[in-house]
Amino acid sequence: QIIILDYGSQYTQLLARRVRDLHVLAEVVPHNLSAEEIKKEYPNLKGIILSGGPASVYDDDAYTVDTKIFDMNLPILGVCYGLQLITHLNGGKVEKADKQEFGKAHLIIDEPSDLFLDVPKDSLVWMSHADHITKMPTDYIQLAHSDNSISAIKHQDKDIYGIQFHGEVTHSEYGVQMIKNFVFNICQAKEDWFMAEFIKDSVKSIKETVGDDQVILGLSGGVDSSVTAALINQAIGKQLTCIFVDTGLLRLNEGDKVMKLYHDNFDMNVIRVNAEDEFLDALKGVEEPEAKRKIIGKLFTDIFAREAKKFKNAKFLAQGTIYPDVIESSRQGSTSKVIKSHHNVGGLPEDLNFTLLEPLRELFKDEVRRVGLELGIPKNMIYRHPFPGPGLGIRVIGEVTKEKCDILRQADDIFISMLEERDLYDKVSQAFVTLLPVKTVGVMGDNRTYEYVCALRSVNTIDFMTATISHFEWSFLEEVVNRIINEVSGINRVTYDITSKPPGTIEWE
Ligand code: XMP
Repeated sequence: QIIILDYGSQYTQLLARRVRDLHVLAEVVPHNLSAEEIKKEYPNLKGIILSGGPASVYDDDAYTVDTKIFDMNLPILGVCYGLQLITHLNGGKVEKADKQEFGKAHLIIDEPSDLFLDVPKDSLVWMSHADHITKMPTDYIQLAHSDNSISAIKHQDKDIYGIQFHGEVTHSEYGVQMIKNFVFNICQAKEDWFMAEFIKDSVKSIKETVGDDQVILGLSGGVDSSVTAALINQAIGKQLTCIFVDTGLLRLNEGDKVMKLYHDNFDMNVIRVNAEDEFLDALKGVEEPEAKRKIIGKLFTDIFAREAKKFKNAKFLAQGTIYPDVIESSRQGSTSKVIKSHHNVGGLPEDLNFTLLEPLRELFKDEVRRVGLELGIPKNMIYRHPFPGPGLGIRVIGEVTKEKCDILRQADDIFISMLEERDLYDKVSQAFVTLLPVKTVGVMGDNRTYEYVCALRSVNTIDFMTATISHFEWSFLEEVVNRIINEVSGINRVTYDITSKPPGTIEWE
C-alpha cells in the first residue's frame, strides 16, 4: 500500500487514482499523521507520496510533515509542494519565483535515476507553481530541470524523490510512467489491489463502523446511491434500510424498476414513499425553473427527513457521495455564480442527527461503476445516462402537471428505447426529451390537431461542463419523430435541439 499525505492540491486524489490504476492500494490521508501513527496504521506500507498544495512552505502557518518520516526507510515522493517541503526541511531554500510556471514545460533530465526509467531526456510535463527551489537541500542531487526551475531531486543515498511538476495529470507525457517507476521500481509494491479488494476492505470497515446500529440511505435509482446501497447491503444486510422517495417526476415505470431491482433481486429493505401528489401540489402554478428546483429540493429533503425520523434506531445516514462531489462542494466559493441550483437526491437534511457513511467518497465515477458491476448490479443500470435530481420537474418546461409528465414519459421512453435498439445509447452521453409549454397546429388523418411540442436533446460530453450535440442520421431522427407523434397522444410536433453547451445548458431549465 502507498499513502498520500494531503496538502490540499486539487490533484491529490488523482495521485491516488493513478496508483490504484496500477492495482496498488493507495489512500489519501491527512498531512499531519505522525511517523508513529503511520507505522502503526499502515504495517504494509511500501511508500509515501507528499501531495501538492496551494500554500508556501516558508509561511509561518504552512502545513508541514513529521520529519521522522525521512528516517523511516521508506521511499518518499514529494510532488510540487511536497518537493518544496522536502527541500525546506532538509537545509535547502524555497522562494517565490520571479516567473510563475504554469502549464506545459520541457523537463530536461540531468541525471539518470530509477524514477526516470523509460522516460526520454526531454519530455513535456505540467507545471503549476509560484515558488521554486533556490538552494538544493543538503545531500540531495538535482535530477532534472526546466527553463524556470529545478524540477526533480533525489537524496544521495535514500529513496527520497521530489518533482516540481504534476506527474499525475495527463498533460505530463510520461507522468504515468514516472508514477509506475516510483510504485514498482522504487517502492517495490505488488499489483494486488483490484475492485474486489476495495469491496472487501469497504465491507470490513462498514461492519466495524456500524457495529449493531442501523443505517438508512436515500435511494434514487442513480448509479451512486445504488452502488452505495449494494455495498452496504453486502456488509450489513438488513441493518440497512433504503428510503426511495418516488417524486412522481421519474421516467416511465422507473419507480417499479427500482423496487424490483433492489427489493426483489438484492433482497434489500427498500421503502417506497409515493409522494407524487405532494410534489405536484407543491409545483402547482410555478413556472420559473429556479423556483421549481428549490421547491423540489426542499420538499424532497422534508419528506426524506420525515421518513428518516421514523427510524429511531438509525445512527447512520449513508450517502452516495463520490470524489467529484467532494471537490465540487469544496470549490463552491461565494464568488461563483449559481447557474442552476443542483439538487441531489439523498442530500443531507440539516436537522437530522446522523453520522454520515460515505463509502464511495474516494472513488471516481468509472471506479464506482466497476464496483457496481462487481457487486452484481446490471450493466444497463450502471451505464445509464445521468438523470437530474429534480427529474421531469425541469423537463416539463413551465408549469408541471401530471398530464404533462405522463405525455413526456412516453415520448422520452420511445426516444431512449430507439437509441438502445440502434446501439446508439452508449455512443451518446445523455439523451432525453423535454416537453414545451407550447401547442401548435397539425394535421392527422383529415383532422386538425392542436397539441404540445417536444424537443429531443442528445449530447456528447466528457465532463458535462461543456457538450456538443449528437450527430444522428436524419433518418433515425425521422423515425423517432414518427413514433412519438403516432404513439403519444398530446404531442403533434417534435424538434431536435442543436444547441451546444455553452451557450445552452444540457437541460432546458
Ligand atoms: P446542465 O443543464 O447544467 O446539466 O448543463 C449538467 C448535468 O447536470 C445534470 N443536472 C443535475 N443533476 N441535480 C443533479 O443531480 C440537478 O439539480 C441537476 N441539474 C442538472 C444534467 O442532467 C446534466 O447531466
